[in-house]
Amino acid sequence: MSISTSIEETLTSLEKEISVADLGSDEAIEEFRIRFLGKKQGSITGLMKRIPDVDPADRRAFGQRVNELKAVAQARIQKAQVAQGPGVAGTSDVDYSLPGRVPARGSLHPLTETYRLITRVFESYGFSIEEGPEIEDDWHNFTALNFPPNHPARDMQDTFFIEQPTQKHDGILLRTHTSPVQIRVMLDSEPPFRVIVPGRVYRNEAISYKSYCLFHQVEGLYVDEGVSMGDLKHILHVFARELFGEDVVMRFRPSFFPFTEPSAEVDIWWKDDNMPGGGRWLEILGCGMVDPNVLESVGVDPEKYTGYAFGMGIERIAMLRYGIDDIRILYENDERFLSQFD
Ligand code: DAH
Repeated sequence: MSISTSIEETLTSLEKEISVADLGSDEAIEEFRIRFLGKKQGSITGLMKRIPDVDPADRRAFGQRVNELKAVAQARIQKAQVAQGPGVAGTSDVDYSLPGRVPARGSLHPLTETYRLITRVFESYGFSIEEGPEIEDDWHNFTALNFPPNHPARDMQDTFFIEQPTQKHDGILLRTHTSPVQIRVMLDSEPPFRVIVPGRVYRNEAISYKSYCLFHQVEGLYVDEGVSMGDLKHILHVFARELFGEDVVMRFRPSFFPFTEPSAEVDIWWKDDNMPGGGRWLEILGCGMVDPNVLESVGVDPEKYTGYAFGMGIERIAMLRYGIDDIRILYENDERFLSQFD
């Protein structure tokens, strides 16, 4: 099989032209492409169009030669483009001028953000972070914290029991607050104690816009010689200023917790011009001086040591800070909500 001499000559001269063409600039490359491979008038394109007209005996060999030529021309273009460098629109499949793709970036959950903010304030005052188990026994969760045996909080309405307490065995439950970690910390070492305890707690409550079956608390405990209610007020004032601004207005309101005496709740003044009176008091935490009975239950001498404790709900503070009015949205992982916290 041989291709007719005239076609052979055309192919050879094209081959030569392709191999010697100067592709030293973007324009030259583009000219070369149009001349040989252009859709309408490119000479190689022209030859390809002629394949069906070639004598069947020669067609195969001819087609092969033309394809080889095309490959050589394309290779030259590619090589020349690389040599020219990036950024040449129209001469490359890659448009280097397009903006890059920004990878999707996660963000901290508002609860994590709030938790970090809270713990950072106390860490800067020398508190260390402790953690305790979420599955707790009745003794740590209630008894050691001076809950009388028939206190309403022990009621099954509030507590998820894993094992009911019996005459012989202590009950096992999902902790209802982070306060049992106070007991674990004090049993574990010697005073002074200065800890904060973040963690998840569980309550068997009806789920609504303001309560959920699980939530998060941060507990604080400081026990040493001569710790006073004045120290408690000071640290909580510092804390409130850090979280709600320098001019935050707060008040201590007498309250009751079995494990503190005296006990108080702290409210902050929430300014709202749309409300009658220009705002309202909002409770942010419970606190008090550690009850001597609690110190005794862990073998700390209440004649020598005094201490304060406090506990707050992280959800509540996050909701105040971010103006969230339904607690459930914090657990739904709805991206439309979460992406607002970038
Ligand atoms: N444990 C209490 C609760 O879950 C909060 C609390 C109040 C913790 C007073 C304290 C405290 O340490 O002193 O509602």
